[in-house]
Amino acid sequence: MSKTTRKPLVAGNWKMNKMVGESVDLAAALKPLVAGIDGADIVVCPVYTALYAVGEVLKGSNVELGAQNCYVKESGAYTGEISPQMLLDAGCQWTIIGHSERREYFGESDAFLNEKLTFALGAGLKVMFCIGETLEEREGGTMNEVLTRQVVEGLKGLQEGDFASVAIAYEPVWAIGTGVVATPEQAQEAHAFIRSLVQENFGEVVASALRIQYGGSAKPGNAGELISQPDVDGFLVGGAALKADSFADIVKAVV
Ligand code: PGA
Repeated sequence: MSKTTRKPLVAGNWKMNKMVGESVDLAAALKPLVAGIDGADIVVCPVYTALYAVGEVLKGSNVELGAQNCYVKESGAYTGEISPQMLLDAGCQWTIIGHSERREYFGESDAFLNEKLTFALGAGLKVMFCIGETLEEREGGTMNEVLTRQVVEGLKGLQEGDFASVAIAYEPVWAIGTGVVATPEQAQEAHAFIRSLVQENFGEVVASALRIQYGGSAKPGNAGELISQPDVDGFLVGGAALKADSFADIVKAVV
């Protein structure tokens, strides 16, 4: 499978932003801007409190709903956590797992993220699994080692069939929210390396079908060049997803 057969995936990670009303307004504004576009899968990931309301707004549209995180149990005494089953119940098809902010601020390890990924897939969610190196790791020459660990440990135990519901988001930490975007060459190099890792561990069929999104200061102005790279299959967008027009323009740059 080549790039032309991998449907681009563009997702907005709204992070901890927007009240319920604002989230509903953003979803309602986005819907008509991307209506009729079927050349990409489009996902928005609001905060938990807005999921259900945004899902209601998006019903019948080509925009899917995702969460930003989930836990590894279906229900029970896990104060403050939310299960994949609850996310599905709230209208989600997707969740993000392993965002660098979860890894950094909440100490989520590769092993824990692997548990989350496995549990979320088992529940029936599709997952955008995030990986990426810090600036220190890149400059210190350990980038490939870090990406290898995140892929090998993070995806451990997955079966070929699981990958139909998995995308990897390559998000270099130094590019997230900084305005410093990876060059198309840097993105391509990392994406090709990640695909080669997946090929080594899970085989050619899985690797060539896997969508690898780029994340980190993606914007309408740089999306076109990035998506033209052979191993860039879409975007996970933070800041630029908080406005309907800029997110829609990224989607349009992709299709
Ligand atoms: P950014 O965030 O687009 O604001 O850099 C991307 C992300 O963290 O997913």
